[in-house]
Amino acid sequence: MDGVLDQNGRPLRDLRISVTDRCNMRCDYCMPAEIFDSKHQFMHRNELLTFEEINLVVESLIPVGLKKIRLTGGEPLLRRDLENLIQMLSKHSVEIAMTTNGLLFAGRGDSLRKSGLNRVTFSLDSLDPQVFERITNTSGQKIESILRSIDEAIECGLGQVRINSVIRRGINELDIDRLVDQFEHLPVSLRFIEFMDVGNHNRWRHNDVVPSSEIQNHLKKRMTLIPIDSTYRGEVAQRWKVEGKNGFEIGFISSVSQPFCGDCTRARISSDGHLFTCLFASTGTDLKSILREQSNENNLQDVISEIWKQRDDRYSELRSKTKKPGTIILPKIEMSYIGG
Ligand code: GTP
Ligand code: 5AD
Ligand code: SF4
Ligand code: SF4
Repeated sequence: MDGVLDQNGRPLRDLRISVTDRCNMRCDYCMPAEIFDSKHQFMHRNELLTFEEINLVVESLIPVGLKKIRLTGGEPLLRRDLENLIQMLSKHSVEIAMTTNGLLFAGRGDSLRKSGLNRVTFSLDSLDPQVFERITNTSGQKIESILRSIDEAIECGLGQVRINSVIRRGINELDIDRLVDQFEHLPVSLRFIEFMDVGNHNRWRHNDVVPSSEIQNHLKKRMTLIPIDSTYRGEVAQRWKVEGKNGFEIGFISSVSQPFCGDCTRARISSDGHLFTCLFASTGTDLKSILREQSNENNLQDVISEIWKQRDDRYSELRSKTKKPGTIILPKIEMSYIGG
C-alpha cells in the first residue's frame, strides 16, 4: 500500500526536517555573509517547533507512509540536545539521517548513533583551504576537523557515510579530483551535486552549473565506473562503483540537467513548522499553528494528507522547459530555511 498519493501518483515517503535556520558557515551560494550578517533576524526559540511538536508531525505521517527522516538546518548540530530529538524519533520505525557541515560533529558520533541516528551526510565543497574559505567564509583550517569527523562517522558505524559536494564553474572544479583522491580508499559515497537555483540570493546562472555528464566524462579518463542500480523509488543520486576501489562509490545529483521530480516523494518542514511540498515552493502551510491550537479541531494527519493529495509540484522539470525571457518568477524559500 502506498498511502496517500499526490496528483502525479507520488507517495509521501521522506520528510526533511529543518531544526534550525542558523548555520556556523556562510556559504556564498546559500547564506551569503553580506545578507546573513549580524543584523539578520534569525528565528526566536519560541518560533521553532519543539522536539515534542516535531515528534507529533512524524507520528502523524507514519500511517500516511513515511519511511525516512532527514534532519537538516541551517546546521542541525547547532540545535541544542539534538540527541534527545533523535531518541524520540527513533521510537517510530523510520530511518533517520542527518546532513551536516561537520564543524560540530567531532566527539558526537557515538552519542548520535546511540540515540538512533542511522546515517550521516557531510557537505564539503573544497579541500583547498583558500577555495574553502572563499566559498564558506570559514577558516580553511577547519577542513582538517571536517575530515576527522568523517573518519569518526565511519568508525562509529553510521551507515554508509556520504559526502556532498556542489561543483561550480570556475570556483571549485579542481576539487573533483582532489575529493576523489581524498576519499577513494574509504567506504564512502562521494556525490557531486549540480548547482541549483534555490533561494533568492545565490546569484545562480546557468553557466555556473557543471553538468554531471561533464564530471563523469572527466572521471572516466582516470577510472572505470560501473553503474549501480537505483535501490528505491525517488533516489536522487545516480551511483557508480569504481573498479578496484572496494566500498567507495561516486554519485551524481543532476537536478538541473536531469530533473527527478517524477519520483519525488519528499516533504519538508522548516524549523518554524511550515510544510513545503517542493524545495522550490514559495509558500508553505503553517503546521505550528495547528499544533498549538487549543481546540484540536484540525487533525494533523488529515491536514497533511489533504495537502499531499493536491500536490502537483515539479519545479525542476518545469525549469528546464520554461526558459522564456520575461517569465515571472516568484520569490522562493531559502535553502537554509528549508534545509536542502
Ligand atoms: P536521502 O534523503 O537519504 O535520499 O538523501 P538525499 O541524497 O536526498 O539527501 P541529501 O541531503 O544528501 O541530498 C543531497 C542534495 O540533493 C540536496 O542537498 C539537494 O541539493 C539535492 N536534493 C535532494 N532532494 C531534492 C529534491 O527533492 N529536489 C531537488 N531539486 N534537489 C534535491
Ligand atoms: N544547489 C545545490 N546544492 C545546494 N546546497 C545548498 N545550496 C545548494 C544549491 N544552490 C547543498 C549543500 C548541502 C545540502 C544541504 O544542500 O551543499 O550539501
Ligand atoms: Fe553552507 Fe550548508 Fe550552512 Fe548553507 S546550511 S551555509 S550550504 S554549511
Ligand atoms: Fe521534488 Fe520539487 Fe525537487 Fe522536483 S523540484 S524533485 S518536485 S522538491
